[in-house]
Amino acid sequence: MGPTILAIESSCDETSAAVITNGKVLNNIIASQSVHQKYGGVVPELASRAHQQQIVQVVDRALSEAGIVPGRLDAIAFTRGPGLIGALLVGVSFAKGLALALQKPLIEVNHMQAHVLAHFIKDPVPAFPFLCLTVSGGHTQLVLVEDFLTMRVVGETQDDAAGEAFDKAAKLLGIPYPGGPLIDRYAREGRGDAFRFARTVMPGFDYSFSGIKTSFMYFLRAETSKDPEFIAKHRNDLCASLQRTLVDMLLEKMDKAAQAFGVTQLAVAGGVAANSELRSALSALGARRGWSVYIPDFQYCTDNAAMIAMAAHYKFLAGDFTSQEVSPLARYALS
Ligand code: KG4
Ligand code: ZN
Repeated sequence: MGPTILAIESSCDETSAAVITNGKVLNNIIASQSVHQKYGGVVPELASRAHQQQIVQVVDRALSEAGIVPGRLDAIAFTRGPGLIGALLVGVSFAKGLALALQKPLIEVNHMQAHVLAHFIKDPVPAFPFLCLTVSGGHTQLVLVEDFLTMRVVGETQDDAAGEAFDKAAKLLGIPYPGGPLIDRYAREGRGDAFRFARTVMPGFDYSFSGIKTSFMYFLRAETSKDPEFIAKHRNDLCASLQRTLVDMLLEKMDKAAQAFGVTQLAVAGGVAANSELRSALSALGARRGWSVYIPDFQYCTDNAAMIAMAAHYKFLAGDFTSQEVSPLARYALS
């Protein structure tokens, strides 16, 4: 019988706990934080406070619903970084306290590695090597995955994350935070080729999304000065054209990287993986090239402890434990 591990995630605005036994995730309890909505983005101090309020109940629910008494755990795992330092600190401190009280080993997990390993929670799973595009409100990375714990970032954003580009563009259109899901919805009723926005061209497999936000802003400013009703009249076309641009940018680099590294398995992770156009365009790219495409269930794309548990499982098998001296890392390189 493999290990039973409790995993805790608190890097941003989801407080989450999960239990894994022998590589099988038993549950994935997630408490989201609605407190940030009225501020149009995650407020770090409020995130820390909400984690403190929620963490005991979330962990308690994960253990009781899995039918696991704390004494039966073989290890306690937690997200060490990257993320908001105050938010991470709540999960790290809680995990350390619990491990100390129960006299159990600790396992630290890199959040970005966990996003990739979310692909192993449920079948069908990708075969190694594969290329994973991790896209969310905080990250945009192309990761070449050679093994469960051997992965390398081959391209990443040099400024904003792709999800941030969706959210900031949404804000300019007067769409509430987080704007990504609503842009996706309005885009379905619009034309993706209605408008064109200048993109920043980046070398290699890196990305840049701050330029597209700026050109979108200047475009809207120029059009609304001519017609104050411009946004209201063209909302769906604006959403569809912006989404088309962002998805094209994401997949163009992914296609190039897959060819450069000779990879035939493509995977996508992170909150933006929920985007319907990204999903369909990725599937189309796979079909065109004869590559396999993997997209996890939505609950495993956004921040969750099940993926932390999956990473912890492989680290446990590798004997990779951490000490009580560990502290969180706001920046934590994958490789
Ligand atoms: O992974 P996630 O829940 O949290 C972070 O770690 O950031 O990702 C949230 C991001 C937000 O930027 C949100 O707008 C975006 O994912 N998102 C979407 C969609 N659903 C969520 N972006 C585009 N289309 C969607 N359907
Ligand atoms: Zn994340």
